[in-house]
Amino acid sequence: MRTQVGIVGAGPAGLLLAQLLHRAGIDSVVLEARSRSHIEGRIRAGLLEQGSVDTLVEAGVGARLMREGLAHDGLDLRFDGRSHRIDLHALTGRRVTIYGQQEAVKDMVAARLETGRPLHFEVEDVALHDIATDHPQITWSQDGVTREVHCDVIAGCDGFHGPSRAAMPPDILRVYERVYPFAWLGILAEAPPVSPELIYARHADGFALATMRSSQLSRLYLQCASDEDPALWPDARLWEALRTRLGAVNEGNILQKGVTAMRSFVAEPMRHGRLFLAGDAAHIVPPTGAKGMNLAVADVRVLAAALTGFFHRGETALMDRYSEICLKRIWKVQRFSWWMTALLHRFSDADPFEHRVQVAELDYLVHSEAARTALAEQYVGLPYDI
Ligand code: FAD
Ligand code: DHB
Repeated sequence: MRTQVGIVGAGPAGLLLAQLLHRAGIDSVVLEARSRSHIEGRIRAGLLEQGSVDTLVEAGVGARLMREGLAHDGLDLRFDGRSHRIDLHALTGRRVTIYGQQEAVKDMVAARLETGRPLHFEVEDVALHDIATDHPQITWSQDGVTREVHCDVIAGCDGFHGPSRAAMPPDILRVYERVYPFAWLGILAEAPPVSPELIYARHADGFALATMRSSQLSRLYLQCASDEDPALWPDARLWEALRTRLGAVNEGNILQKGVTAMRSFVAEPMRHGRLFLAGDAAHIVPPTGAKGMNLAVADVRVLAAALTGFFHRGETALMDRYSEICLKRIWKVQRFSWWMTALLHRFSDADPFEHRVQVAELDYLVHSEAARTALAEQYVGLPYDI
């Protein structure tokens, strides 16, 4: 088998890249370890920057997103028992959209299957070979048979635990990492959202976030211990903690419960030879700033443009700058996600001084339009060219 781009992973990064390449007339093979129903049911991120929405629409996979996505013009910051609205649209002229990651994945899987180009689910033993040469290959096994595809380029879109980053020589990779001493317990519940906009709450018991998937589905998160056992959170305890931290909550049948670890992580560079990493394969942000999926989209925009220049015109300049261009944005977004996390969580080792500084920063945000604007312009998404 031969293709121009071998794509490992059918998450948002791999699927969007496949779609953008298809629109540019570039062939690819997508390999995914899990089943279609697994990736379409996996509940993860839910908030899209305006630039991500525009990118999905331009890529031809935004029709349902435009119909069903919930556009939000603001958010609430809650602390000391009071909520304060940040008017994102008034401050930036831009808005964000709530649309479940798995819905975007469903749309992109459908678009991919419609193209007739290959997307293989439930592949095993994926391995990357000869990535430093101009004829890399990927091998995998499926139904007990070993298969191989010869590529011009490999895109490692296989998330944090995938084989692509591990295929880069360890001596060229620099890794920057911070693991936070807490996690989020997230639930999806059959209950109308308690407020039409998101609520980010700082409380003495810990952070809480009220978000949603529709007018009838609430998505709620609570700061918990990093090794938290969800079984220790029976529904009654969960609702009580949410009510305490958010001020109010609408209860309903809990459809899903899970713990998300909190980590900041960057691997540099994002390219070695003909292997390019995109999305969570290269970086992880703590979810407080809602940036994981948006960063994956931003990487893929750059990668698709670089590969289009290469395959259509033989240009390598943008490929050579891929890592540098992406990392400029990634580090700004890392900083923002780390800052939002520090602003809103309870750090068990914080002394009274740090606690006072945290409250002062929240109070400053409420009283300074300049501070709110800085938050808002990063939350709605920095422009792609800075
Ligand atoms: P992924 O979505 O991880 O896709 C990678 C794909 O590669 C997966 O489908 C995986 O199955 C596949 N793969 C892995 N190994 C192999 C292999 N060996 N061979 C073939 N395929 C392979 N972000 C937020 O902003 N808010 C949130 O609330 C939020 N919650 C999250 C909850 C969880 C549990 C996780 C893991 C992430 C969450 N994120 C959240 C982050 C966000 O979902 C990611 O940033 C986003 O999915 C990145 O997309 P990606 O395509 O780079 O990686
Ligand atoms: C969602 C998740 C986030 O981490 C966030 O900051 C905002 C929204 C969500 O799942 O909707």
